[in-house]
Amino acid sequence: MEIYLDTANLKEIQEVAALGIISGITTNPTLVAKEGKGVSFETRIKEIAEIIPGPISAEVVSTEATGMLREAYAMAKWSSQVVIKIPMIPEGLKAVKILSQDGIKTNMTLIFSTNQALLAARAGATYVSSFIGRMDDISQDGMRVIREIREVWDRHSIQARIIAASIRHPIHLVEAARAGAHIATVPYKILMQALKHPLTDIGLERFLADWKSLTS
Ligand code: G3P
Repeated sequence: MEIYLDTANLKEIQEVAALGIISGITTNPTLVAKEGKGVSFETRIKEIAEIIPGPISAEVVSTEATGMLREAYAMAKWSSQVVIKIPMIPEGLKAVKILSQDGIKTNMTLIFSTNQALLAARAGATYVSSFIGRMDDISQDGMRVIREIREVWDRHSIQARIIAASIRHPIHLVEAARAGAHIATVPYKILMQALKHPLTDIGLERFLADWKSLTS
């Protein structure tokens, strides 16, 4: 399973890029808004593209296909790495169909069921993003949807890549990998939690102390 970072924050992206563990970035309007009004969306996506060589999802905010397409064609010019993120609504499907015919990559977002994922893939989506945490929030098993999507994908040889999004804690990450997600898009904080283990810290402290005792 590949790891993407779910953020529009440049500092976080720079820091994690240096670790060599992420292969793409996803953003959404909420994450971009968190960064404030100081920098334009276009500039931010271009800055990210200079750090990360992989796919960068940039989301449209129109709710009609014509507006989505207008935004998508403009964003696709920012960088060849841009993937157009489009909400899973009927107008979104129309836009995905046209963009896929034009060879523009899409990430269909706000997917909460296997049916939605299947329809997104049929419209030609390159990626389908299923929001695990938000399903868990309302007492639905988000990971079950990832497992089910993967089962359908394997049975029917569907190519769209499954993104486990709305990852809320490190266990989600391991479960998404086990469930067969192709990608998990993870917030910075969760990634940092996932790479830590108390026994690693204790072990390192002991190694260093023992080494120091040789020289003192
Ligand atoms: O990028 C979409 C998704 O990861 C959002 O997560 O935590 O706002 O549900 P969350």
